[in-house]
Amino acid sequence: MIDSAELLGRSIDQIPTPALLVDLEVFESNLRRLAAFCQAHQVAWRPHTKAHKSPHIARLQLEAGACGITCAKLSEAELMAEHGIGDILIANQIVTPAKLLRLAQLQRRAKVMVAVDNIQAVPLLRDAAQRAHARIPLLIEVDIGMKRCGVQPGLEALELARSICQAPELILRGLMGYEGHVLTLRPPEAKSAACAQALNLLITTRDLLLSHGLPVETISAGGTGSYQLTATHPGITEIQAGGGIFMDAMYRQVFSVTDLDYALTILTTVTSRQSTHVVVDAGFKTMSAFHHPPQVLGREDLKLRYLSAEHGVFEIEAGPGPQIGELVQFVAGYSDSTTFLHDFFLGMRQGKVEQVWEILGRGKLY
Ligand SMILES: Cc1ncc(COP(=O)(O)O)c(C=O)c1O
Repeated sequence: MIDSAELLGRSIDQIPTPALLVDLEVFESNLRRLAAFCQAHQVAWRPHTKAHKSPHIARLQLEAGACGITCAKLSEAELMAEHGIGDILIANQIVTPAKLLRLAQLQRRAKVMVAVDNIQAVPLLRDAAQRAHARIPLLIEVDIGMKRCGVQPGLEALELARSICQAPELILRGLMGYEGHVLTLRPPEAKSAACAQALNLLITTRDLLLSHGLPVETISAGGTGSYQLTATHPGITEIQAGGGIFMDAMYRQVFSVTDLDYALTILTTVTSRQSTHVVVDAGFKTMSAFHHPPQVLGREDLKLRYLSAEHGVFEIEAGPGPQIGELVQFVAGYSDSTTFLHDFFLGMRQGKVEQVWEILGRGKLY
């Protein structure tokens, strides 16, 4: 067994593969860029932490200027709170009494807002808050076109807001929406028009609630794939873009994000060479192709044939191809579907391991 701390100081060719690497200089520059963009447009940054699931990286995001973090799951929020993160949004629905009680009890350790999109959840939230002697802050999730979670904009949101405001144990903080359906649109004008149209549904819903005397101080939206559009949309108060700290091939090639650089790579070793192809020691259990395949870094001679569980099979397209034992590095296809496969990130600077960050949130799905 290797103790991850033993890896500190090692050069890249002394790292056991496969390994998940973070180029620290690029990572820090992405972090600064995202924080600075939000700051320049006077919008708070509440990065989604599902791409890294690491309390340590969450802390770095807060130090860079984030107002808090976003989680997808209650157990992730519990982990983050245990590690001292004090301001969390669970951008997801929680509807079962046992989990709602955990959510209510978590309020003792951190401010934890949760999304709600159904009036039937209101008495359940209320019961949990009463049992824990806590108050639960909420954002109403509005479906702004993605057709995933969310009440319909307008009257349905108003009805839910009224019901929340009748419960003294619940605090209505505002609205959230996720414009995930616009991310792949091209050309840029079509994407920005669709994004504005989606976000306007949040703004008009906000106006309706305000006109009925209901409180809406927060309007939370946005991911890496649209963060510049969302951060500059009037009325949006916070941005959930998270995975951009790593960047990946999907953000670049499918979502057309060009101002952030690749920080997250997978280091592999060639373990087999055949006449037409090579095999590396990383299959889909190491570098998922879900949503987008990983990209070979810094060489043009290999093309992905397929990933099986523990084998990555690559066609040799030109020249002799890599030799047995040679290192081949890949840019993550989609950071979210890659990082949770690993125990830790190795933070690299000038070719050496400078940091080991455990991915403590892996498996925190409940
Ligand atoms: C609710 C929510 N917010 C934000 C995001 C964007 O996250 P990221 O910036 O890591 O792509 C997502 C992505 O799926 C999401 O579901």
